[in-house]
Amino acid sequence: MTPFICPLCQTKLQRIHNTQICANNHHFDIAKEGYLNLLPVNAKNSKNPGDNKEMISARRAFLNSDGYLPLAEKVSELVNEYLADYDQAEILDLGCGEGYYTASLAARLPEQFMINGLDISKVAIRYAAKRYKNINFCVASAYDVPLADNSLDALIRIYAPSLESELQRLIKSNGYLLTVTPAPRHLFQLREKIYLQVNEHAEDNSAPCGFNKIKQVNLNYLLNIDSPAILQNLINMTPFAWKFNEQKMLDLLAEKHWEIECDFNIEVYQKE
Ligand SMILES: C[S@@+](CC[C@H](N)C(=O)[O-])C[C@H]1O[C@@H](n2cnc3c(N)ncnc32)[C@H](O)[C@@H]1O
Ligand SMILES: [Zn+2]
Repeated sequence: MTPFICPLCQTKLQRIHNTQICANNHHFDIAKEGYLNLLPVNAKNSKNPGDNKEMISARRAFLNSDGYLPLAEKVSELVNEYLADYDQAEILDLGCGEGYYTASLAARLPEQFMINGLDISKVAIRYAAKRYKNINFCVASAYDVPLADNSLDALIRIYAPSLESELQRLIKSNGYLLTVTPAPRHLFQLREKIYLQVNEHAEDNSAPCGFNKIKQVNLNYLLNIDSPAILQNLINMTPFAWKFNEQKMLDLLAEKHWEIECDFNIEVYQKE
């Protein structure tokens, strides 16, 4: 059964053949890859909102090289720790992209936990659903999540946008919010190739209203890259990809071996 609800009238969905139908007869086709598209056409600001195919395929290829495996492991370890006493749990990876961290959670958490992923990019969700079959994926906006109030035991948000009021609405009392944001030295060695003076990322560590921060972890490690293709994928999945002009790219590729710092800020909040 899908945990997602009708985005138009917020009633439960029921599966009939390859369609999910709500009490008011709104129909949503289940794509052949198994995901649901619950993004109302009038909620789209562009024809294809969210990350595009180039960014998603670069992210998929880079993540496949396990450069961010320490982050995936740490996130799963923390969720496991906080949900250790739970028999059942409903979890959402908000802005899940092509599903790398969602799948890591599904692989490392008890199998009766329900793992769900949501992203506004249809390409991202298609990649995710095609590869990871035991996860419920849907195309929807993080600003209007098609899930019932107080339905989540944990919400994971890794480099993705969200709305404080939605976080408050979705997470159960005593439930958890885990966020990952870039810490000051993240990808420093790439950014110093672009900017004359690299501004270390400013950190905003304030808890969303109605939540208390219960943990903060700084995950910092050196990524050793020997393959130009992996380096290129890492660059192409970042927002500063377009700042690498041809000359800067050639200079960088001439180096043959790259040591790049990864610096993540992981925070866990608990709802009051
Ligand atoms: C930097 S990516 C991170 C993806 C994934 N969490 C990861 O770390 O691999 C940000 C993601 O947020 C998605 N996104 C952007 N705006 C969104 C919105 N309004 N609602 C849901 N997802 C959104 C993008 O499509 C993209 O997949
Ligand atoms: Zn409906």
